[in-house]
Amino acid sequence: MLNIKLDCFNAVKQNLRSAKNKTPTKNYYISWGVRQDLPQILEIEQSSFQCPWTKEEFIKTLSQRTNVCLVIRKTSGTIEHDIVGYVIYELNKKYLNIINLAVHPHYVRFGIGSQLIDKLKRKLAIDKRRSLVAIISEYNLTGHLFFRANGFRVEHIIPNEFCDDKGVYYDGYCARWHIIRNM
Ligand SMILES: CC(C)(COP(=O)(O)OP(=O)(O)OC[C@H]1O[C@@H](n2cnc3c(N)ncnc32)[C@H](O)[C@@H]1OP(=O)(O)O)[C@@H](O)C(=O)NCCC(=O)NCCS
Repeated sequence: MLNIKLDCFNAVKQNLRSAKNKTPTKNYYISWGVRQDLPQILEIEQSSFQCPWTKEEFIKTLSQRTNVCLVIRKTSGTIEHDIVGYVIYELNKKYLNIINLAVHPHYVRFGIGSQLIDKLKRKLAIDKRRSLVAIISEYNLTGHLFFRANGFRVEHIIPNEFCDDKGVYYDGYCARWHIIRNM
């Protein structure tokens, strides 16, 4: 499946910014992603992943009714330059499946990715779904540390889940945050 194969593969950047530099949460807000947001989303995607989704892959993924996009914006930004991160997730009957998530390289380690995850956790609380799921490439160390810091725990490994542009396969780590475990 397109989403899963490209999801979370091998993040490009190193997030070296100190946690001390965090910008307050109130400087950002989360809204639905719309088609006009695509250029900014693509820019973040391309600077975040070795095998980024193309515009067509975003359009195809988001044309499915079960897939949802949220963007996080700077309150001080211009319309052309206000998005600092996004998450795309799939609505499953019992859980939300995070299929893409990235933060602009200039804004990593400000708590922005965690704000997106917190938003999804709050969504779980108001519907019948019970957990968040993410599949992380074995080589995406940043992704592993990020999801672990947000309370996710690896449940199983999916062999050969990811394929890079040279045709090399990598395992995926399926991590879950469960509402009951964290209440
Ligand atoms: C992974 C990613 C979304 C994290 O976003 P972020 O906004 O920087 O994450 P946060 O600032 O909310 O980080 C929360 C915690 O995760 C952990 N973490 C995140 N990045 C880390 C890094 N590079 N090294 C070590 N720990 C890290 C830390 O515990 C951090 O808390 P701290 O800053 O107080 O130490 C971002 O680095 C990114 O876009 N990476 C490329 C794409 C990707 O890998 N996506 C995830 C898989 S789909």
